[in-house]
This record gives sequence, structure tokens and C-alpha cells, in this order.
Amino acid sequence: MATLAETTMQFAQLEHPAPTNWETRDRILADPGFGTNFSDHMVSIDWTEGVGWHDATIGPRQPIALDPACAVLHYAQEIFEGLKAYAQADGGIALFRPEANAARFNNSARRLAMPELPEDVFVESVRQLVRADRDWIPTAEGSSLYLRPFMFASEVFLGVRPAKSYKYLVIASPAGYYFKSGAPAVSIWVSRYSRAAPGGTGAAKCGGNYAASLVPQAEAIEHGHDQVVFLDAVENKWVEELGGMNLYFVFDDGTLLTPSLTGTILPGITRASLLSLARDEGLSVREERYSLDQWREDARSGRLVECFACGTAAVVTPVGTVAGDDGEFTIGSGGPGQLTSKLKDRLVAIQRGTAPDPHGWVMQLG
Ligand code: PLP
Ligand code: COI
Repeated sequence: MATLAETTMQFAQLEHPAPTNWETRDRILADPGFGTNFSDHMVSIDWTEGVGWHDATIGPRQPIALDPACAVLHYAQEIFEGLKAYAQADGGIALFRPEANAARFNNSARRLAMPELPEDVFVESVRQLVRADRDWIPTAEGSSLYLRPFMFASEVFLGVRPAKSYKYLVIASPAGYYFKSGAPAVSIWVSRYSRAAPGGTGAAKCGGNYAASLVPQAEAIEHGHDQVVFLDAVENKWVEELGGMNLYFVFDDGTLLTPSLTGTILPGITRASLLSLARDEGLSVREERYSLDQWREDARSGRLVECFACGTAAVVTPVGTVAGDDGEFTIGSGGPGQLTSKLKDRLVAIQRGTAPDPHGWVMQLG
């Protein structure tokens, strides 16, 4: 197999004329929030039919001009990824499973009829940005530099067909906790809207899926809950996932369950990592369908003792209460459970370099 160094394209380095001053940056890093502050640089690579990928640059983060007929503005041919760079206990920097994000990005690209980006180029683009913006990585517990690689159809054309040109960009945003509420667990609202149907784009990370989740998410907030949970689109019965996180259930016999990847659920990298970590602990984890009725019954009988959401942005977040048109129920004590906290600590310790990395998930950037 070719190494990264042999296959990676060259990135032109454009100097930043006016980087953020350190006082402003340090103020942001002290309380980064989520998704509102951005680092100084970005990566950009173009793709043109007949030419392929070209003009890779790393330079100042700046607005991009789009023609009003740019295809993405009309037919939403857009995909993205989310991963994080973590400050390490020894002062270094590490990425967590960036190759998995690269592979998922290409799965999304295939579903949206977009060109694939070689995985080594994806990983190198992220490394380039993290190196350029290494001073933007917050170090406090629960914080990191959130990286957002994305690609959109840039052709100026209104016909409905795959575009003939695309732009791939990577931006970075210092991030703290995703849920601001500070509550020990989140409450979720069962939506009657569907997120994804069989044969649709549920397993792809495309912007359109999130656009469709905004009304249900707003409904969850209106009802006083933090997040929306979606059921399957056919029977409106099986629990799928939240708007931006996968779900796990923990039972009183110490076993776990996470909804199986049916094609309508996003295959989360955190989900997959926790599956391995739980099995490393000798726990039994089932990937199966789980119905809302069963969820309610198990919570009421006490068979279900913990439930948590997981994802890059949310890490591992306990779910305390579930509400919907049919009433509300509480899981366990309504707060963080023991196994949830243990798995979260195991994951975060690997990401932050305070525990060994038996699966080789961590990519050190030095
Ligand atoms: N499900 C959805 C819909 C998401 O947007 C995300 C976030 O990326 C996840 C699940 C969790 O995926 P990951 O753990 O790869 O971040
Ligand atoms: C992520 O966790 O990376 C996501 O894309 C989810 C989104 C809610 C921010």
C-alpha cells in the first residue's frame, strides 16, 4: 500500500495577512461554545470533470463568492464530515480515526453522485489545517478543535444532474460541550416526522438530512426538550437515532443494545468505537431493532437502566427522559448511569492520550 507521503497532493500555502490576535483567540478558547467561532485558516481543493482534483491550498479562512445559479444552492448536492483534534496530555495533538471519516465521506459522495476524494488526501487536508491552526485547540476538559470537511456542487447550472465541478473545503471551530444546558442528562422528544426512509439518504452525511430535521428539532425545543429522536419511516415504531447522534441502551443484566444500521441510520464513528470498547470490557452488545413501546416498557419496569446518545460533537451524553405524544418516561435515575460514565471516560482517555490506544485509533500530529 502506498504511504500518505507518496500519494498526497501538494498544498499551496497562502499566508494569512491578518491572523486573529492572541488576546481575542485566548478569550474564544476560554469559552468556545459550539460552532460559533472559527480558526484563521481553511483548506480548499477543486474538482473539475476531465481534470480531477486540483488547486489544493491552505490559506486564510475567508468568504467564498457563489454565482446565484451555483448548483448546490438549488439541489443541495452537499456532504460533510465532523471530527476533532484533541490536545494530548503530553502537549501533542491527535486526531481520532480520521480514516473512518474519510471512508464515510466517500460513501456519502457515492450516494450524492459526487466524486470521491482519495482517503489520503482527506486525511492530509485535515492534518494541514490542524497544523496551521494548532494554536486554536482548546485544552480544557471536554474541549477540542472541531473540524468540518465538506464538499458541494460548484457548477453554475440549473439542470438536474450531477454537477461537473465541486469544491472541497475544511474549516475548524474550537468547541466545548455541545449541550449548553449543563444538565446531567438530556431530555429527548419523539418525533412523528421521519428523518430518513429506506432507499433514501439516511446513511449519508448530507446537508439535506439536517435541513429536514430542523422542524422536528424545533418542535422538540418548543416542548421543552433538548433533542429530537426519530423512529423508522415505515412502521413509525423502531427507534433510529437523534438529529445528530446515535443511541445506546443499557439493561439491568449489564448488556447493551444499539439500533442496527439498517441503511436509514448514520453509521457513527463514536457508535462503532463504543461497540469495540464495550466488547473489550467483556460486555455483550446487540445491534438490533428496538421499538419505542419496548423502550417505554423497559424504562418503566426498570429493565432499562441507562440510555445515552453518542457522536463526535456530543461525545457521550446521558438521556434522562423521553417524551412524545403518548406521554413521558424517565430512564433509571434520570441522570448519568455508571456504565455510560465508564464508557465515556474510556473513550475520552484514548482521545486525550491518557490511556493506551489498543485499536490504533489515534493519529498523533506531533
Ligand atoms: N447520527 C447523525 C445523524 C449525526 O449527524 C452524527 C454526527 O456526526 C452521528 C449520528 C454520530 O456520528 P459520529 O460518531 O461519527 O460523529
Ligand atoms: C457531529 O457530531 O460531528 C455532527 O455532525 C453532528 C452535528 C449535530 C454537529
